[in-house]
Amino acid sequence: MAGRALDERAWTLLIAGIILLGVTYSLLGPVPSPQPPVPVSSVPRLDPAMIPLVTGEEPIDVLFIKSGCPVCHAIPGIQGADGRVGPKLVLGTTGPQRLADPRYRGRARTVRGYIVESVLEPGAYVVSGYPDRTMPGWYGQKLSAEAMGRMAAYLEALAEDS
Ligand code: HEC
Repeated sequence: MAGRALDERAWTLLIAGIILLGVTYSLLGPVPSPQPPVPVSSVPRLDPAMIPLVTGEEPIDVLFIKSGCPVCHAIPGIQGADGRVGPKLVLGTTGPQRLADPRYRGRARTVRGYIVESVLEPGAYVVSGYPDRTMPGWYGQKLSAEAMGRMAAYLEALAEDS
């Protein structure tokens, strides 16, 4: 009889101990960090560390996709490229319009040059109706000259109705 009473006390103590441990642990445990505030604008920001170097030997769609352009641009012929942050890339149509715009202060004289300038120096001319300082400014460090040349040739051949 005495043995059983002792047994019960031991169990009670053990359970109390476990509960106490649990409570202590939950008090000491990591305080959940507050949720970050919802961003005011939902403009995507690309982390340059997440964009690999593009050599220029990749197939053309891989070139664009690896560089992250489809996140912000619609590019006819490139699967999944339907971004809306920047203009649709149909430079065969829009390129000559940009160069003829009296607001254009860049140095390009050809559509090809305008495309390269737009990618390497996005602030040189900001397409009206679209946000400045949104297109990343670090593509010059990520794209080889060959990659840039192939992308520009592709974009130059795209017209509005393509
Ligand atoms: C984070 C969003 C974003 C990414 C990523 C991005 N762009 Fe842009 N791009 C923009 C915005 C916004 C504009 C319009 C404002 C401006 O002219 O800077 C623009 C403008 C352009 C223009 C000028 C278009 C015109 O109609 O005159 C070209 C060309 C261009 N981007 C090419 C590219 C290429 C190629 C890539 C990938 C290597 C790329 N962009 C990646 C946001 C982006």
